[in-house]
Parts: sequence; C-alpha cells; structure tokens
Amino acid sequence: MEKIGINGIELAYIRRGTGTSLVLLHGFPLDHHIWDEVVPLLEDTFELILPDLRGFGESTTVNSSYPMDDFASDIAGLLDHLGIQKTAIAGHSMGGYVALAFARLYPERISGLGLVSSQVLADPPDRREGRYKSAAEVAEKGIGSVVDAMTTKFTPDPNLQAFARENMEKHPPAAYIGALKAMAERKDSTSLLASMKYPVVVIHGDADVLIPIERAREVKDALPHAHLVEAAGAGHLPMMEDKVQTADALKRLT
Ligand code: MLT
Repeated sequence: MEKIGINGIELAYIRRGTGTSLVLLHGFPLDHHIWDEVVPLLEDTFELILPDLRGFGESTTVNSSYPMDDFASDIAGLLDHLGIQKTAIAGHSMGGYVALAFARLYPERISGLGLVSSQVLADPPDRREGRYKSAAEVAEKGIGSVVDAMTTKFTPDPNLQAFARENMEKHPPAAYIGALKAMAERKDSTSLLASMKYPVVVIHGDADVLIPIERAREVKDALPHAHLVEAAGAGHLPMMEDKVQTADALKRLT
C-alpha cells in the first residue's frame, strides 16, 4: 500500500482503476480488504481510492481520543495529496459515518454518496454506553470479546464469518478504542440529508442484524431521489454477500 503522513498518523491507501473518482471506506473493525471482490467490478468505471481508516489495516493512529470528523479530515488530506478536489464517496457502516462527516465538513468536495449497511442516526444513550463499556474492556483485556461478539453478527455465511474474524484480529486495541469512542460521539446526520443534491445510493442487506434495514428505508423516505437497494438474504457485508448488486448500485455514483 502507499502511505502518507496526515494529522499525526500514517494513512495507507490503494488507488486502482480509471474514471470518476470513488472513495470506498470500510466499516468497524475491518480494513479495505472488505472491498476486494467489488474492486474488479468497478475499476473500469472508477478511479478507486481505498484507504485503511486510522488505526486499521496498515494505517496508524494516535493515542488520544478523536471525533469522527478526524477520520473525515484524514480522507480530505489524502485527496489533497492525490490532487482530487471532488469525489464520490461510499462508506460501509462506520465508513458511512465517516462519509457523512465528510459530506458535512466538505460539501463542495462530494459528488455522490453511498451508504452501505449504514445509518444517519446517532447512537441512542444505551448504545453509546455499550460502546464505552466495550472500549474499557478492550483497554483492559484486548479485542477478543468484541471479535467474538461481532463475528456471527456480520453474516450467516460461515466462510465470510471466517474472513471477518481473521480481518478483525489484525487491528490493535488502540484502533478499536478510538473508533468505538468516535462512533459513540458521532453527530446525528438526519438534517444533512436535505442538503444532498447529488446522487445518493443506499445499499443494505435485509437480514442485517447489526444495523436493521429500517435505517436504510428511513433514508429513502427522507430523500426521495436516493436509490435504495435491499440485498435479499444479505447480512452486514453486502459487498461480499451480493457483490454484483452492490457494484451495480455504486455505478450510479459516476
Ligand atoms: C460497523 O460495521 O462499522 C459497525 O457495526 C457500525 C456500528 O457499530 O454502528
């Protein structure tokens, strides 16, 4: 992977393909490899930018707390480095929260938004408390309990569960702690929807147990020009469980 220094961290990324630029952001606690199977389906249409978000994969992080906005600022710095002024951006789950922060902070730099297995709502108080508890547990005992709890929730497919477990085990505790706190404190993006005049694609598995399909339908209800794809039988990883439909939907962001 290529690496740049930005905001006190080293940010790793891959750049592939030619066409309109599209940034693909992974969710928690994963890395850019979740997109591996859709990259070949998209690289003739887009110039793809696939970063590892701070702390994950080959990117480093800092030892202090940071808001979701800092993940978005890392992406803006990467785009500056690459000479890309405006781009489409699609995020999976937590990557969607980063994409929404990017849309709020840099409205002039976004040409299209993809929300994959994500949501625009902030955490309710009990979920926020749960995140702080998980962060404290990771600090004390390591990542094992989060990995165990999430593995079967990603997808019913045992092969993809094995992929998710192996991927989750790569990242250091600091990445988990930083991201859990940033997710707990993220802003509600509901009011942002009205400002989205660009194409918006919402892709969601109808069997997602981590973020229910209702969150995607609510985005479609609030934003009639959004294109909603409900991936039948898919869980929280539609880019792997239903890669063709996911790639086809993302092509609307050209
Ligand atoms: C993710 O997949 O990024 C997380 O499950 C999102 C979340 O916990 O809200």
